Amino acid sequence: MPARYVAIIMDGNGRWAQQRELDVNEGHREGARALRRTVENAVDLGILELTAYAFSTENWTRPTPEVEAIMELFGEMIETQTPDLLEEGVRMRFMGRRVGVSEELLAQMDWAERETAHNSRMTLFVAFNYGGRAEILDAAERYGGGGEEEFARHLYSPEMTDPDLLIRTSGERRLSNFLLWQCAYSELVFSDALWPDFDRADLEAALEEFEQRQRRFGAR
Ligand code: IPE
Ligand code: IPE
Ligand code: MG
Repeated sequence: MPARYVAIIMDGNGRWAQQRELDVNEGHREGARALRRTVENAVDLGILELTAYAFSTENWTRPTPEVEAIMELFGEMIETQTPDLLEEGVRMRFMGRRVGVSEELLAQMDWAERETAHNSRMTLFVAFNYGGRAEILDAAERYGGGGEEEFARHLYSPEMTDPDLLIRTSGERRLSNFLLWQCAYSELVFSDALWPDFDRADLEAALEEFEQRQRRFGAR
């Protein structure tokens, strides 16, 4: 079975910049280009949902100039890329805590979601100010019993399908607080490519590795 629901931890922007003796924010800019490219490739490869980890609840602890540059780049990307994504049939959804995010960015995210709401070729979930534990805690506050399915209805994006495949780039092998609930049975693939270098061949390689896996979901 090919992977239709894919999540990516886009890691390695800092090291990519460091290797080139560039400012870390140049790495983030190149990382944004890599996301743009990956969305196009994902649509082309028949992926139905792509969930990308753009900014974690822990990333606020980075130096202020870096955080500010990421916020600015994020807004700029939404503004400039939404019209193209609309054309390409991509529906955009943002998942994460709204508290702490500027009013301007919140408005931009709402705008992009509204603009693309009727697209159905692929859904791009962007995890921004996202933490898996925060998501579970927030859901727990609203949960009134009823079991797993009912609990999942209180997650940030209840319509999101659990990922078949979770890819992490840059050679790191950890979840870093991403989709802790949803990845319970996802296949994990680790790519050594730094995120700004991640290309179509890397995505295809991850999808191929997924197809070699035998999923059991606990059954015999
Ligand atoms: C991922 O790249 C982008 C964010 C976490 C926002 P990093 O900035 O973490 O890159 P490395 O891990 O330092 O190389
Ligand atoms: C995970 O990467 C967060 C994103 C990719 C947005 P980090 O670089 O923040 O994770 P750690 O610090 O290596 O665990
Ligand atoms: Mg990192």
